[in-house]
Amino acid sequence: MADEATPEINNLNIEDKVPQTKSTGQIVTPFDVSGGVDESGKLLPVDYDKLVQQFGASPLTPTILERFEKVTGHRPHRFMRRGIVFSHRDLTKILDLHEKGKPFYLYTGRGPSSDSMHVGHTVPFEFTKWLQDVFDVPLVIMMTDDEKYMHSAKIEIEDAKRYTKANAKDIIAVGFDMKKTFIFSDFDFVGGAFYENICRLAKRITINQIRGTFGFNDSNNIGEFHFCAIQSATAFATSFPQIFGTDFKKVSSIPCLIPCAIDQDPYFRQCREHAEKMKYKKPSLIHSVFLPALQGPGSKMSASVDSSAIFMNDTPNKIKNKINKFAFSGGQETAELHRELGGNSKVDVPFQYLTFFLEDDEELERIRAAYEKGEMMTGEMKQRCIAELQTYVTAFQERRAKVTDEVVAEYMRPRPLEWKGNPNPVVAEKK
Ligand code: TYM
Repeated sequence: MADEATPEINNLNIEDKVPQTKSTGQIVTPFDVSGGVDESGKLLPVDYDKLVQQFGASPLTPTILERFEKVTGHRPHRFMRRGIVFSHRDLTKILDLHEKGKPFYLYTGRGPSSDSMHVGHTVPFEFTKWLQDVFDVPLVIMMTDDEKYMHSAKIEIEDAKRYTKANAKDIIAVGFDMKKTFIFSDFDFVGGAFYENICRLAKRITINQIRGTFGFNDSNNIGEFHFCAIQSATAFATSFPQIFGTDFKKVSSIPCLIPCAIDQDPYFRQCREHAEKMKYKKPSLIHSVFLPALQGPGSKMSASVDSSAIFMNDTPNKIKNKINKFAFSGGQETAELHRELGGNSKVDVPFQYLTFFLEDDEELERIRAAYEKGEMMTGEMKQRCIAELQTYVTAFQERRAKVTDEVVAEYMRPRPLEWKGNPNPVVAEKK
């Protein structure tokens, strides 16, 4: 995390320019996520509508969801139906390509900063796996061990490399198809065509733009200033000749779709600003909100604070204890009051977690209604959430136990991938 950073996300001199708004203290960058504080100093939840406006992204409207379903033949994922995946940049361009059977790829990543990922990190990965199944396209997963080393005073290179291996196992356990997935560590992979793209981009991005986008100041190290070019280079297909080949002209026209939580958007605003000048396509993005920390929507889930999150290596008992002890409740102070007034599901962390992880829309709605009417008590809500998370995490741990070092090595080996894309593309009529 940056020292004494003064984020000025409004100071972009770029195409995805942020309209000037008076700051209310809300800050969302890859290093800081805060909804700000009110006059009494109380933490506020992130205002996502405002953020979409500030960032110059577009909301994921019902019209786009309809088009998604029409083009892919798949009902939108529960994250899309429930506003968890809520915003995008140029998703429609990707849908147009898919409709015509033209190539694109998926790109996502992880900054390995701990031995185990937390449940929030699995949100974009679960969604990306689903997109990979729906689109049948190649996926590259970037492990930014260099980023974590340069940003953290505590993380040494050996730590970052160890975390990369451990987190790669977590990611593989989500269920990605090996034939279509390449996972890479920056420390191992940067070089060749990938490094050329880093340099092409680094030559164009100014210190001013990085300051404005990330809020860095003169105390940040030069690695932090440079890193944006590294994360962005993955958005260009020419960085991966082993997957897409070496016909530069053809490959440079292949764009990517990046699923991530909205904190990663600042990197790609820079990337999109410069892509076309480099004769590349701009990456498209699809953003999710954050899974709230146990302490509630105003606080941040952190990989280094055990009590802030459920970790993917937590035991069922630990999950139970964490939810019972730390999960912020939207229930009333006494059972009597709760029966009379009902609970507030919007701030209730156990209910929010169910919104992310419970597949059945009707059951979720039944739970919400019963809680808000005061028919369902806080304890019951916690029990329901504990059961759901225990099931989710246990199934994950069973899959992860099967991921050997050899399996990781194969996912991380630079190699050709196999994919089919849209089996029934709409073919344009010849005139
Ligand atoms: P990192 O490791 O901070 O986060 C990994 C992914 O998880 C998302 N995320 C969350 N999603 C929901 N709820 C949360 N509480 C939560 N916390 C984190 C992040 O947005 C991210 O999608 N620099 C990146 C690594 C990276 C990357 C990328 C991520 C490189 N290229 C492309 C996404 C897309 C990082 O440190 O992510």
